[in-house]
Amino acid sequence: MKTDVLPVSAASIDRAALLLKAGEVVAFPTETVYGLGANALDEGAVAKIFAAKGRPADNPLIAHIADRAALPLLVRGVDRRARALMDAFWPGPLTLIFEKTDRVPAIVSAGLSTVAVRMPSHEAARALIERSGVPVAAPSANRSGRPSPTTAAHVLSDMDGRIPLILDGGPCAVGVESTVVDLSGGAPTILRPGGVTAEMLRGVLQDVLVDPAVLSPLRVGETARSPGMKHRHYAPSARVVVVRGVKESVAEETRRRYDEAEEAGKRALILCQSAMAGAYGQRRVRVLGTGGGEMASHLFDALREADRLQVELVIAEGSGTEGMGLALMNRLLRAADFDVVDV
Ligand code: TXA
Ligand code: MG
Repeated sequence: MKTDVLPVSAASIDRAALLLKAGEVVAFPTETVYGLGANALDEGAVAKIFAAKGRPADNPLIAHIADRAALPLLVRGVDRRARALMDAFWPGPLTLIFEKTDRVPAIVSAGLSTVAVRMPSHEAARALIERSGVPVAAPSANRSGRPSPTTAAHVLSDMDGRIPLILDGGPCAVGVESTVVDLSGGAPTILRPGGVTAEMLRGVLQDVLVDPAVLSPLRVGETARSPGMKHRHYAPSARVVVVRGVKESVAEETRRRYDEAEEAGKRALILCQSAMAGAYGQRRVRVLGTGGGEMASHLFDALREADRLQVELVIAEGSGTEGMGLALMNRLLRAADFDVVDV
């Protein structure tokens, strides 16, 4: 199959909407990351998403809507807390988990009784959903296990020949996936931190919890509340290690590990914050920026760059977990498969 890449325009969005209506899969930009969309009500179309990504069938998808009028089709009820979160953060990078209706095919929810729903704020994403006239099931548009795509070029490198069309809307502003919040089991719980921070959620609802799987590996025998949490994620080909602790010690340990790798003939890459760049001299460094939000938005591109540079070891500075730091640390720990050194 030939994969076309078209800049976002009224004509290209129309073409993408026609493909969605015809049961095909298209990639499109959102404010978080690029999505791989199909008609959420069409089982056969959704199966093509799983095939194109190589995604395990037990990992459910998010249904994207452009209007709250689409909710009754998908979900059984919207309680007071969900409504408060939607009022505050929709459209935007927040995904909510609801009890699903029978109209949502089991393939979308991976057999769960719940469905994840999000209303993106990206204009092209909204226009595409509106034009297609259906809810759009869309995971991130990467091959399963790879870093999520934040540019059309990232999507093309994973999906070339596998899908008919990629809409190119430039780099994604948030650059990390939506926050997933589960309201179905008692206290609101963050299953995946993202563009809406825990602090922002706590400004609207009291007692927002963070699922333990956000920062720790699942223990043997434990079941994941978010099925995505049990799969390795965001990983480049290189081994990733996270170094966490006080600044000076982090810099020292990072330099030591880098030099050790290079002396053994292995290419290494350091991912650091702007303020630390000076600590690494002539070593191969990718500066992610200042603060959790900016750093998180550059992380996936940096992990893909590690592959382009054919690096064998990525050493990433750990971050605090306030604000967007929680999303950054969650993605780093998963890319590293929880290989973390505390100094
Ligand atoms: O920002 C985003 O959310 C992007 C863009 C394209 O909207 N989409 C995205 O989808 O990141 P995906 O499939 O890569 O991640 C969806 C996450 C997974 O961790 C999945 O396990 C979780 O949401 N999820 C989906 N449905 C769920 C459900 N019913 N219960 C618990 N977790 C669910
Ligand atoms: Mg994903």
